[in-house]
Amino acid sequence: MTTHAHPALGIDIGGTGIKAAVVDTATGTLMTDRQKVSTPESGKPKAILKALDALVAKLDVDPTTMDVGIACPAVVQRGITRTAANISKRWIGLDAQQLFSDSLHTQVAVLNDADAAGYAEIMFGAARGVPGSIILTTLGTGIGSAIVVNGTLIPNTELGHLDIGEHPNIEHYAANSARERENLGMEEWAERLQLFYEHLESVFWPDLFVVGGGISRQHEDFLPLLHLHTPIVPAQHRNSAGLLGAAAFAASHPEASPTGNPVNWKQLSEA
Ligand code: BGC
Repeated sequence: MTTHAHPALGIDIGGTGIKAAVVDTATGTLMTDRQKVSTPESGKPKAILKALDALVAKLDVDPTTMDVGIACPAVVQRGITRTAANISKRWIGLDAQQLFSDSLHTQVAVLNDADAAGYAEIMFGAARGVPGSIILTTLGTGIGSAIVVNGTLIPNTELGHLDIGEHPNIEHYAANSARERENLGMEEWAERLQLFYEHLESVFWPDLFVVGGGISRQHEDFLPLLHLHTPIVPAQHRNSAGLLGAAAFAASHPEASPTGNPVNWKQLSEA
């Protein structure tokens, strides 16, 4: 550990696994091994809290001694999870920030998993210092998205749920899970990705696409098959991006979600 290290605990709750590590948020490097537990099948809040306890025990760290950020596969508004596409519907409307904070005995920051991955790429990866508008997508169980404009994250975009062509929920057709489920070859899958990115391009005309998710490790097998006006590059952090971004976000926005925390919101609405 260097003298200037700023450790924070990053946790990424995904559709299949929950990952965590202590991150040096000054440099974006992992200070511990990345630990992982399976996401409980039910995806229900209680089961996930229990899995988090096991994960923290595995890491052998005390969350009360550092900033803690948690990335969730859901829209997170002022700490409240508003959607639940690949986890239990019981998350909808829950004060996840409060729930996690109570469970870990410390105030945590909570944000959407793709926003966290986008934040990691802005701070330490492919989007660092890149001006203009950038769309980061994560290709995993679902498709997550983050839009960054001149370094500022626009949170809670849900581009994976767009209705494109004959596909009312494009992630069911184009996510990496669709490739696996339907046993698609890379060329077949790339045709689906082409439809998705072409659509995003025609609506947003971004300056750059960044493609994350574990499968982006194999980017050479599918990114060259896409034909777009917009440059498209792999994310630099792949499987660790969510936890890295959650930790970095917590370090710079303690006690908040990207759209503010419940206390501020109350104060605003009463003002
Ligand atoms: C969810 C998003 C999430 C993405 C990746 C989608 O199904 O709606 O909130 O970011 O999956 O996990």
